[in-house]
Parts: sequence; C-alpha cells; structure tokens
Amino acid sequence: MFDERGPTFTELMRQALSSTTKGYDMLAPKFEYTPFRTPDEVMEPLKEVVGSVDRALDLCCGTGAAMAILRPLCREYVTGVDRSQGMLDEASKLLQDVKGHAEIRLEQGNVLELDYQEEFDVVVTFGALGHILPDDQDRFVKGAFEALRPGGRFIFATAPMPAMWTPRWWVSRTFNAAMHVRNALIKPPFIMFYLIFTLERALEVLKRNGFDVEVLSPYEGTRFSVMRLVVATRPS
Ligand SMILES: C[S@@+](CC[C@H](N)C(=O)[O-])C[C@H]1O[C@@H](n2cnc3c(N)ncnc32)[C@H](O)[C@@H]1O
Repeated sequence: MFDERGPTFTELMRQALSSTTKGYDMLAPKFEYTPFRTPDEVMEPLKEVVGSVDRALDLCCGTGAAMAILRPLCREYVTGVDRSQGMLDEASKLLQDVKGHAEIRLEQGNVLELDYQEEFDVVVTFGALGHILPDDQDRFVKGAFEALRPGGRFIFATAPMPAMWTPRWWVSRTFNAAMHVRNALIKPPFIMFYLIFTLERALEVLKRNGFDVEVLSPYEGTRFSVMRLVVATRPS
C-alpha cells in the first residue's frame, strides 16, 4: 500500500482488526516499509541532545529505529521494551550491524508496567504516544521518571494541538472516531488514537509527575516543522 515491500491494504485491515499486540506481530516483517516507522530525520537531533551517556531505554522500541541512533551514543547498554515479540524479533535482526559497542537488550513487556529504578541516563519514546490512552499517561510518565537516574532525561517528539479548521485536526478526529466504532464492535481493542499526547498535554503530565521540561525546535525548515522535541529532566 505504501511501498511495494510494505503491507497490502488487506493485510493492514487484518492487522487493524486484531489486538494492538497481535496487529504489530503481524505487521512486524514489513513494518520498516510503512510510514508508521519513525523516520530517521525525527530522531537525528538525539545525537546532539543526548551526547554521550552510559545507558538508554527506548519505550515501545518496535523494530529498533531509535535504538540504532542511540547505540553509538551509549557506553554500556541500550534497552528496548515492546509488547510485540514479532517487532522485537525484527529489531534483533536489524540492530545486528548497527554502529556502536553498547550491548543491545530487547525486553518484551508493557510500558505501563515498567519496573526500572534509577537505571538510565536517557529514556526515549518515538511513534508510540498514540498507544497510551489518556488515563494511562500518568502511569507511563511515572515509569519513565523512575527508570531515570536523578538528572536523567526523558526525550520524545510531539506536536501542539492543531487548530480545528486544519486538515490535520479533521483527519485525526475522523480516524479516532473510526477507532472508537471499531473498538465498540470488536474485542480485543486496537489502541491507537491521534492527538491524545499533544505538546500541551505532555507538558501538563510531565510537570505533574515531577519533571523539569524544556521544549526544543530542531525540525524548523524540515517537513516535520510542526513537531517539537520535548526534553524532560528528572531533577537531581
Ligand atoms: C508505531 S510503532 C513505533 C515503533 C518505533 N518506536 C518507531 O518509532 O519506529 C509502536 C510500537 O509500540 C508498541 N506498543 C504499543 N503499546 C505498547 C505497550 N503498552 N507496551 C509496550 N509496547 C507497546 C507496539 O508493539 C509497536 O511496536
């Protein structure tokens, strides 16, 4: 549908009718050729912002797009957590030849049930905020906070809420409405909604959970100019 190596329309429909995890398990072998894989340009700014650290954690790592950027920046290890074993299996293959010496650790798990304590210098998440329902966002952010050592940073990209008259607002709202209908009719649900973790909402949730927050604009002049890079620091 998006690329000749990517999923067909029928495959995508079948995936959307499965649960979130099963859907990603099915999509995994072709995920790299979909627009759902975060483009490298979105993660490029990590190189400068992260600098050189000991350990990093990627939440909802998928096929490891952010881990590939983080590995050369880490001295000890880069951990990726994802609920889909299919996605982790792809990550394991794709990360084999990536530059850097840090150990790659892939862990299957729910990012709403993290159990790391002050272990990481940096926690990131890309392309997955739409999978975290509003009622779960505090739990998600708290898990990231606890995983960071004091002074560590939680980094991700999001965008401000678009105005109601923009196509982006209407397309997102229409998609969300279709998802609500799908989830009302079919169990288990597929959790994916647009505009639920906007910049405004992110600032609110991060501050409520103890982070100091900085918002960077590294995407100006690119096709991602609406996006911002959020750098939330766990106070020392
Ligand atoms: C759109 S993909 C993004 C993958 C990758 N981070 C990227 O940017 O290319 C979303 C990923 O989030 C994972 N995911 C969704 N909800 C999750 C949860 N509650 N716990 C762990 N992983 C989750 C899915 O399995 C999927 O691999």
